[in-house]
Amino acid sequence: MGLLKGKVSVILLVFSLLVVLCASLSVSKEDQQLRLCKEHCRQQRQLDSRQRHQCETACEEYIREKERREQRDEPQSRHDPGKEYRECRQRCQEEKEGKRQEQVCESECEQRKIEQEREIRRRRDEDDEIVGRKKERSEDEEEEEEESSGKGRPYVFDDQHWSTKLKAEEGRVRVLQKFTKRSKLFKGIENFRVLIFEANPQTFVVPNHWDADVVLFVAQGKGTVSLVYTDRRESFNIERGHVMVIPAGVTAYLINRGNNDKLILVKLINPVSNIGKFESFFGPGGDNPESYFNAFSSDILQAAFKTSEDSLKRIFSQQREGAIIKASEEQIRALTHEKGSHWPFGGKGSRGSGPFHLLRQNPRESNDFGSLFEVDSNDYRQLRDLNVAVAFANITQGSMHTPYYNSRATKIAVVLNGKGYFEMACPHVSKSGHKQQHHHHHNEKSRRGEEETSPVHYEKINSELREGSVFVVPPAHPFVTVASEDENLEVICFEINAENNHKFPLAGQRNILKNIEKEAKELAFATSAEEVDEVFRSQEEEFFFKGPRQQEHRRGYSII
Ligand SMILES: *[C@@H]1O[C@H](CO)[C@@H](O)[C@H](O)[C@H]1NC(C)=O
Repeated sequence: MGLLKGKVSVILLVFSLLVVLCASLSVSKEDQQLRLCKEHCRQQRQLDSRQRHQCETACEEYIREKERREQRDEPQSRHDPGKEYRECRQRCQEEKEGKRQEQVCESECEQRKIEQEREIRRRRDEDDEIVGRKKERSEDEEEEEEESSGKGRPYVFDDQHWSTKLKAEEGRVRVLQKFTKRSKLFKGIENFRVLIFEANPQTFVVPNHWDADVVLFVAQGKGTVSLVYTDRRESFNIERGHVMVIPAGVTAYLINRGNNDKLILVKLINPVSNIGKFESFFGPGGDNPESYFNAFSSDILQAAFKTSEDSLKRIFSQQREGAIIKASEEQIRALTHEKGSHWPFGGKGSRGSGPFHLLRQNPRESNDFGSLFEVDSNDYRQLRDLNVAVAFANITQGSMHTPYYNSRATKIAVVLNGKGYFEMACPHVSKSGHKQQHHHHHNEKSRRGEEETSPVHYEKINSELREGSVFVVPPAHPFVTVASEDENLEVICFEINAENNHKFPLAGQRNILKNIEKEAKELAFATSAEEVDEVFRSQEEEFFFKGPRQQEHRRGYSII
């Protein structure tokens, strides 16, 4: 019995040593790992000589097993699925016997790639398990998707790209995957995340603070937010259309004071320390939400609060209902405040930290076909540090906004209501093999040793949009959004890097192409300026237009 127990503890020791070793020396060679492992065995004072010997033997066994595994896996792990996929597609094109067969061939290539990647991932997981650390792989290490288009990839996100961060009886919190997990193209907005918060009527959200700045938009419902500082508390009533900033580290709590509607908040999150990662910290709480006080030793807490262990236990263990909990009518009434919610005219004494009612402003653009509301740091200085602007577009059913581009801002758009679609011109992604097909001359050039460059090609990114879809429009990329025939399309947009950003319309009355000189037009289009003007001057509306299905076509044909 004693021996068995000894052996088990030695093996446990070896494994824990190896976890440390692997974490610190994952690049080093096996023999170095073996040497260090044995050294650690020798350093363990509590082991007698026999146990020490067992420990060293266990080190040897482990390393030998590891080498065996690596030899077995080596041939496969050299496979580069990405490379093989490109070669496979190349073969499809060379052997092309009609468009249809080419597509079938390419989808087989894709299938094979997916299988290979899955296999590699599985092996990696096994490796993690054998050293007893089924480590949570960090998001950064996850493979990025191939940058090919199709279904709006990688710019459009839907259900599968959300995960539930918190689920409680009375509400839930969903987070969109990290942008750079989807594609390297999002490096510039890597530090931003998008979250949707929902709470049932008459509920309370337990006070907590975040290691991130938050810009929130109230998409539905009515609530009251309270922010707690060392010298004061500020409470604000919020309702649909409000934009509000909650700075990092400020403890906040919230009620849904509605009787029937859910409170829905769409949040843009900007972590302050860990790129693209954030956490909430609950102080008040107990078991669920777990209070951060519970991480401290009891004697520390007793000393800090100058109180007994019993009373501490009583207060930090009662809460088990979760972060979003039902409140009584009286509690809701008591937590509802009118004070400080009159921004922009009131709230001055409150240092302007109150919410901003986006939908009560004059729209920046508005006609029968839609309206656009916008707030930037000039109107709401809370947004200045974040360099973010917020816009709300309400596109009338069957209508569209002008094709336009943002000069500097990256737009993250979340569809709140309705259906429609989106198109964008993008030079960064290509359909399978698209570029190669177009430039047969490149072989010749590279043979002469010149650098291979191909003329820019803009791929059409397009996707259906519906409630909950998110799409990202990088700066300079022309795009358009169209509402479906039977519903308005309501979209909330966070614009990152908003300072000095301009929206440049490419159609309609303020179309920038109208300002080009006659000669420049003729040279650029290689046709007469009159012909060009006929095209660029005929749209008499600004910004929002009738959509493709509603235009009467003067030349008598129609587009289906
Ligand atoms: C969007 O516009 C429609 C009218 O076209 C209006 O009924 C609706 O309330 C607007 N949505 C918002 C959120 O203002």
